[in-house]
Amino acid sequence: MASRSAKSGAATSADTSDRISSVLQEHRAFAPPASFRARAHVSSARQLASLRAEAEADPVAFWQERAKELAWFRPWKKVLDWKHPHARWFVGGTTNASVNCLDRHLGGWRRTKAALIWEGEMGEVRTMTYQQLHGQVCKAANALLKLGVQRGDVVAIYMGMVPETVIAMLACARIGATHNVIFGGFSSEAVRERINDSGAVVLITQDAAVRRGSIVELKSAADVAVKKCPSIRHMLVLSRCGVQVTMKRGRDLWWHDVVDGASPVNEPAQLDSEHPLFILYTSGSTGKPKGILHTTGGYLTQVAYTTRMVFDLQEDDVYFCTADVGWITGHSYVVYGPLMNGATVMIYEGVPNYPAPDRMWDIVERHAVSVFYTAPTAIRSFMKAGQAWPERHDLSSLRLLGTVGEPINPEAWMWYHSVIGKGRCPIVDTWWQTETGAIMISPLPGATTTRPGTATVPLPGIVADVVRKDGTSCGPNEGGLLVIKHPWPSMLRTIHGNDERYKAAYWSEFPKGRRHPGWYFTGDGARRDRYGNIWIIGRVDDVVNVSGHRLGTAEIESALVSDPRVAEAAVVARPDDIKGNALVAFVTVKVGVKASGALAESLRQHVGKEIGPIAKPDEIRFTDALPKTRSGKIMRRLLREIVTSGSATGDVTTLEDSGVLERLRSIEEE
Ligand code: WT7
Repeated sequence: MASRSAKSGAATSADTSDRISSVLQEHRAFAPPASFRARAHVSSARQLASLRAEAEADPVAFWQERAKELAWFRPWKKVLDWKHPHARWFVGGTTNASVNCLDRHLGGWRRTKAALIWEGEMGEVRTMTYQQLHGQVCKAANALLKLGVQRGDVVAIYMGMVPETVIAMLACARIGATHNVIFGGFSSEAVRERINDSGAVVLITQDAAVRRGSIVELKSAADVAVKKCPSIRHMLVLSRCGVQVTMKRGRDLWWHDVVDGASPVNEPAQLDSEHPLFILYTSGSTGKPKGILHTTGGYLTQVAYTTRMVFDLQEDDVYFCTADVGWITGHSYVVYGPLMNGATVMIYEGVPNYPAPDRMWDIVERHAVSVFYTAPTAIRSFMKAGQAWPERHDLSSLRLLGTVGEPINPEAWMWYHSVIGKGRCPIVDTWWQTETGAIMISPLPGATTTRPGTATVPLPGIVADVVRKDGTSCGPNEGGLLVIKHPWPSMLRTIHGNDERYKAAYWSEFPKGRRHPGWYFTGDGARRDRYGNIWIIGRVDDVVNVSGHRLGTAEIESALVSDPRVAEAAVVARPDDIKGNALVAFVTVKVGVKASGALAESLRQHVGKEIGPIAKPDEIRFTDALPKTRSGKIMRRLLREIVTSGSATGDVTTLEDSGVLERLRSIEEE
């Protein structure tokens, strides 16, 4: 039985073969403060209940009402076309994401409202109004058209957190190009793999990014990547740092040469509701990263709605989500959601603890941030740095706090609530995934009683449940699998270029059949408490959550065995106070290779090069054999137990060589 202690605070991967149980019980409860409720969009449990009743009576009609809040060129003919497991939302409707984020606000006073407030790591600040951002997006759109980018083409974006990244995304959306944002921390190899899988024709990048006071070269990494990317025709390069780069004639162009002089007038493309808006790669339990495909109308509908409701956005908010645009949170809740709502979005370029651990609080104070959305791993690192840092700052502008990415341990929740929120600010713990596109389970801050550690209940319009393997619903506090039982507007449509994998990864656990109509399986284990709150226990597959980001252990293992000295590798997670999980790699070396500290370090570097620094194992343990079943499958469950508790006590009868366990236990004491 996989279990989780109330104190550890970190999610451990639960085992699929057993029932999942969780011993965590949390009794503290926080009702929305009256001062917050006074002007909240949804200001009472009763109001939320009636919204929920409306959605339960007819989820499709409920989402249709939400879609009407967007700007459409042509209305839809049918709200939902569901042919399991493929959904089409707002069929026949045409719209444009950049129009919804920008043009829509230009008719009134929001034209001169700040859309983006950007702060560079070195302290420079740039503010752009909706009108200015619109002008920049139109110029970039015209530049892309001039480079030959056509509707339906894929454009890769490999950049840091600068306003031009947002501009590039919206410019793609404007002309109907599908963007593929690749996190700026990824290595050349990872960039190449994503470009080739998506078939991108243009790569937008920058000379270098600023990070922790130094410079990270992106253009040179992009150069290495595109050496084997036959689909790339042009690279568009922003000069952010003024560093020397090589520009390949005919292929590479400077942003300032082609964008700055372009016309600020651009007629937006009228795109089908199901037009692909973006592909974003995420890790899976097997093989290479999955290109999650999101389309336009449904995605925008749910993202706009959830941003307004969950963050209770008000016209005068300064909204700050600390996520990088390289992840789904950056797509939905830095760019599309807040801009569709006409919000003022704070964007910060660098790392949260540079030059000192109070950088975030300094930003909150100077820019009067009112809504702050971050990840548990960041909260734990703020905690570790000590409360003296936030105490130096006036945080009275804050009115709402949010978290996402992994289960938040109650201790971190309480710290966030008291030290940052001063007990005044509700906390929205939001559960969702790259695949879900938008928030699915979350409190509404003016209406929901929160408890530290739970994302509470599904939002109106979302039908989620915790079920047993046979599909029956679990009882109170019984661990099970989290499923979504009804299609939702912002759901992924497929895995780019691999619909079979889409079906296998999400729809094979609870297939369409006699017992049920086929459900989406999230990959998460969860339990419901007696109030109906959903508590996420962790992933049940071979995916680990490190610092709020999903990493596929298979991917890291394949990077490890690509080193000629390595024979076999198995990667598992162990709980970590700050990162949630740390990665432990068990490695066997080839005959004649000597295991050493130097080899371990060189393997860590190798993984960094193959995937990126986030995937580097925290620990490498050399062993002469890995525990396997007789059919040759590595028993990761045993390795997980070894790294978590120091011994493997579960069922070991299927083990091929029982002596292996004894030897594995002893290596960790070395
Ligand atoms: C996985 C999705 C969605 C943006 C960030 C991560 C875990 C996410 C929570 C939460 C408990 C959470 C789940 C999920 N997760 N939010 N509030 N409480 N767990 O996106 O990389 O697609 O990862 O993150 O395990 O399945 P992602």
